[in-house]
Amino acid sequence: MSNNPYIPFEAEVKKVHQETEGARAIKTFTMQFKDKNVQKEFKQQPGQCAMIGIPGVGESMISICSSPTQKGSLQFSIMKMGKVTSAMHELEEGDTAMIRGPYGKAFPIDAWKGKKILCIGGGIGLAPLRPIINYVRDNRDDYAGLDIIYGARTPADLVFVDELKELQKKKTAKVHLTVDVESEGWKGNVGFVPQYLLDLKPAPKDTIAITCGPPIMIKFVLENLVKLKFKDDQIFTTLENRMKCGIGKCGKCNVGEVYVCKDGPVFSCAQYKLLLPDM
Ligand SMILES: Cc1cc2nc3c(=O)[nH]c(=O)nc-3n(C[C@H](O)[C@H](O)[C@H](O)COP(=O)(O)OP(=O)(O)OC[C@H]3O[C@@H](n4cnc5c(N)ncnc54)[C@H](O)[C@@H]3O)c2cc1C
Ligand code: FES
Repeated sequence: MSNNPYIPFEAEVKKVHQETEGARAIKTFTMQFKDKNVQKEFKQQPGQCAMIGIPGVGESMISICSSPTQKGSLQFSIMKMGKVTSAMHELEEGDTAMIRGPYGKAFPIDAWKGKKILCIGGGIGLAPLRPIINYVRDNRDDYAGLDIIYGARTPADLVFVDELKELQKKKTAKVHLTVDVESEGWKGNVGFVPQYLLDLKPAPKDTIAITCGPPIMIKFVLENLVKLKFKDDQIFTTLENRMKCGIGKCGKCNVGEVYVCKDGPVFSCAQYKLLLPDM
């Protein structure tokens, strides 16, 4: 693999899974570098991202949503939003895209050993949390517990549903699902994620809370975690500022003096609060 972190490598689409339908559909892509050495040497940690490029269209930063415990391929869950992500949605099995990375700081998941892990996600925001969930699943004895609070607009907008059901069935995790608007047959909660968090009242003792979702959800989840007596060093989040280079060179992603691509995208609540005046 090249020492130049800016060089992309060819990767083949091995599998495409349609997570949700509609104008803002979400698909999960399983990708494998064509060069076996590149695949072997690409070592990401939960929370890191990669730039995915479609030649002639552009590139976008996407969270790597597979855990490092999954060897031999990478996964990305992508919502169809603009030009680049729409082109990604056209990709089929056997097609090629360019990938460079991994970029950014990861969640300090090894430092959390022995703790209870509480993941709080909204919509496509579960994608950056999925590597944590699957890492804890694959190293379950190292962690005291795994709770997932996850919400979307409707039941049809929830992602990774089969995996979440499996985690619940095998008692690997306690999964708490909520939707803003229910549909026939829905058995989970109805309401917004921040309120559901308050209703569930997770105990802060020996617990690490990680949240990702729309900015408004993150704002209220952080406020409610404080109400539940979580301390700043027990709370982590990940930011999605606009990015271009991904390696701290272009200045597109900065908040004050912090480059989200290089110094983040993962931040503790204490670090996040320092960014707020410049956001
Ligand atoms: C750290 C990080 C992780 C991300 N993880 C995911 C993920 O797992 N799944 C997913 O679907 N999306 C993710 N995104 C958003 C994604 O990168 C897209 O840029 C965004 O969805 C806009 O779609 P587009 O690139 O098709 O838009 P276009 O209009 O084609 O945008 C072109 C370029 O503008 C910038 N841009 C435009 N809108 C945004 C935006 N809202 N956020 C960031 N950059 C933007 C990007 O540099 C992009 O390459 C992530 C963004 C960041 C910064
Ligand atoms: S994306 Fe270029 S400095 Fe962060």
